[in-house]
Amino acid sequence: MVSFIYVVLLGFILRQVSAYVHPLVIHGHYFIDSVTKKPFYIKGVDYQPGGSSGVTMFKDPLSNPDECARDIQLFQELGINTIRIYSINPDLNHDVCMSMLATAGIYLVLDVNSPLPNHHINRYEPWNSYNIDYLENVFKVVEQFSYYNNTLGFFAGNEIVNDQVSAKHSPVYVKAVIRDIKMYIEYNSPRPVPVGYSAADDLSYRMPFSEYLECVYNNPAESVDFYGVNSYQWCGEQTFYTSGYNLLVDDYSTYTSPVFFSEYGCNEVLPRMFEEVKSLYSKDMIDVFSGGLVYEFTQEPNNYGLVEIMPSGDVRLLNDYITLKSQLHTLSEIDYSHVANSMRRNAKEIQARLKIQKTIQPICEPSYPNIDVSKGLPKTIAEDLIEMGVDVARGKYVSLSDQQLTSKFKVYEPNGAVHPTAGMIITEVDLMSGSELGRRRHIKDLHNCTYSDTDSDYWSDEALNYEMESGGEEEITSTTIRSSIFQTVSTYFQKLIKSFSHKLYE
Ligand SMILES: *[C@@H]1O[C@H](CO)[C@@H](O)[C@H](O)[C@H]1NC(C)=O
Ligand SMILES: *[C@@H]1O[C@H](CO)[C@@H](O)[C@H](O)[C@H]1NC(C)=O
Repeated sequence: MVSFIYVVLLGFILRQVSAYVHPLVIHGHYFIDSVTKKPFYIKGVDYQPGGSSGVTMFKDPLSNPDECARDIQLFQELGINTIRIYSINPDLNHDVCMSMLATAGIYLVLDVNSPLPNHHINRYEPWNSYNIDYLENVFKVVEQFSYYNNTLGFFAGNEIVNDQVSAKHSPVYVKAVIRDIKMYIEYNSPRPVPVGYSAADDLSYRMPFSEYLECVYNNPAESVDFYGVNSYQWCGEQTFYTSGYNLLVDDYSTYTSPVFFSEYGCNEVLPRMFEEVKSLYSKDMIDVFSGGLVYEFTQEPNNYGLVEIMPSGDVRLLNDYITLKSQLHTLSEIDYSHVANSMRRNAKEIQARLKIQKTIQPICEPSYPNIDVSKGLPKTIAEDLIEMGVDVARGKYVSLSDQQLTSKFKVYEPNGAVHPTAGMIITEVDLMSGSELGRRRHIKDLHNCTYSDTDSDYWSDEALNYEMESGGEEEITSTTIRSSIFQTVSTYFQKLIKSFSHKLYE
């Protein structure tokens, strides 16, 4: 039950993260807000200050509340709703930073691997690194972050298949890790957090590997819940067609799961104009792509940064931050009536598919171009870990004081002038009363965007309950429900939500 906590202590108002950070679920190839039923488009950035060396036994991107307060304010100013983090250390405490992100209305997509020894799959000898210690760490990440409602999903891997040798050895192991994580979640997590993979922008492998990760041999957990494409093909002045984005849309138009850019923002032509942002959220793409994440928030040696963190911890905004912010703030609102129609089309396709076979996902082929899957999927070694669960602190939201929500650092503009900031994380989700502060309205007021409150009728249960043809109901057997455990439409969707919420909140 929602408890209404309103404590004034030493002059600070304690804020309680409410029940209203809505988890996202997957519905056909769309992310959906599980409460409002509205499709969710990722507007985000990749976030890994310090790169891979920013993760140690003592520190990771979500372990220092002061730094989180500083950066989350800048996320809000930028106008994003999601960040991706490439690695964290599950032995550290992330409650304060995750509560801050939730307060700010920001979701997290989290990679489960880290550069620490035995915390990632070796793409050339995956049979050695696919071991119990590895999986234990992966499950610790999953266990801890499944408890935060603003965890959008997990990436089981990033660019593991990226050359001929890795394409020979690692595809089946990536699929095995996805399966193991999904089984772990099914048995241990409070809700079905989606599990995906983030692919290198390599034409030889991108398509065949996405098809292989989508398919099912006999366990629905073998299928990836979403697919991230790292795409750097829009460089300088381009259009939907000259960039080749049109081909990407064609390629993934029949994909059964959500697809989005897990990295984008080519820096071969400087300054970056981020004109692709307009394309990504236009009718050209929103049927197939669920938005994307710009690489990357902080300036690192490879020169993709939006901001520079100075040794003092103060921040200098770079021109790319200003440009991206302006692109995001001048974006037209997503055309939701268009999306509603394409969702209905998607649901019909899925129903047609279910008439022919038991699962929504395709059945695996014996082989795929350019990748070797001939050895078959390795049997899981994780049965005991899945059965017993792993030992790690479960994430929980905590009360935040105004002081914690206030940044202690200075922010400078590209020319060195002091940048005026809000000073505090803006509360998008009311943490005290347990009700929403009208998230979108708030953002609109702040940035004077063109957001309009969309007609909520699109997302009513009736609108999403696509007519079942006669006999359709009979096809909803328990196998089908199980097989579509994270991938579901209309009535299936409602049933699943019920069963999971029962599990969670009884
Ligand atoms: C998480 O989301 C569920 C479903 O909307 C809600 O019932 C629950 O209270 C939320 N939990 C927190 C801690 O916000
Ligand atoms: C918001 O933008 C519109 C059009 O760009 C402008 O006419 C209006 O005055 C702005 N409102 C505020 C409060 O800045």
